[in-house]
Amino acid sequence: MNKDNLIDGNAVAKSIHEELTRELAGLNAPRKPCVAFIRVGEDPASVSYVKKKQSVSEAIGMESKLFVLPEETGQEELNALIDSLNADDSVDAMLIQAPLPKQLDERATFNRVRADKDVDGFSSANLGLLCQENKNAFVACTPAGIVELLKRSGVQTAGKRAVVIGRSLIVGKPLALLLMQKGLDATVTVAHSKSENLAEICSQADILIAAVGRPKTVTADMVKEGACVIDVGINRIPCAEKKSGYRLVGDVDFDAVAPKCSKITPVPGGVGPMTVAILMRNTLAAFKRHMGK
Ligand code: GUN
Repeated sequence: MNKDNLIDGNAVAKSIHEELTRELAGLNAPRKPCVAFIRVGEDPASVSYVKKKQSVSEAIGMESKLFVLPEETGQEELNALIDSLNADDSVDAMLIQAPLPKQLDERATFNRVRADKDVDGFSSANLGLLCQENKNAFVACTPAGIVELLKRSGVQTAGKRAVVIGRSLIVGKPLALLLMQKGLDATVTVAHSKSENLAEICSQADILIAAVGRPKTVTADMVKEGACVIDVGINRIPCAEKKSGYRLVGDVDFDAVAPKCSKITPVPGGVGPMTVAILMRNTLAAFKRHMGK
């Protein structure tokens, strides 16, 4: 592997931000797009993700609102906030950062968000539209970001074997639906914690996507020579040398796997920035719909 094979998510995300900034400026709209963020509790990773999403939205010329609810918030209280944002015409887009504390029902929460403000694409309405390959679906940001990264990095998907490790609502399921769509045309396998012969399944992949949340899940023996490897994991592991006390690693044993790959995403700086870029793209799309543009 050489540096040419590293997929630079920061650079691709930056180009998308620039494209969106230009598009937004060209709209001559009477107001800015507005995205509302809801965070429940103080999970450090969620604090940092929401802060990043908010700062990028402002950098590209959007407004944002942040609602922070206490860890012990009940479902009714959260529902009331969602309902008020659903009804607020000045809010185009809404995102409730996951994971939610355990007393809250994530599925019910995501389904409560009005479909045309659901820029996360987690509601059954948007997932249904995605399944139907309807262009009006808001598609979950991480899967859509991965597809954009593949496209902009010149990775062929048509007819290729893609293996997705992980079946979550946020990444695995929508990503599998996207990759098998007409136009992308991959042959998709979804593996998960109960899959037998994981190494054998993975070793057949032309495109291997790890979305597990466990360091070193993908080791060199699981990767076919020349495969493209996309690492969705963002795991914090203790690190005394870092001021924060931790460092970020993905789900892939990067140093061992990278030499076998045609392309690979680093952590950090791979998929993460793309999630934010697609959130911005979805928010602009929601705004344009609300403005009738
Ligand atoms: N938690 C991890 N990824 C995401 C995401 O894309 N959206 C939300 N709302 N929560 C997340």
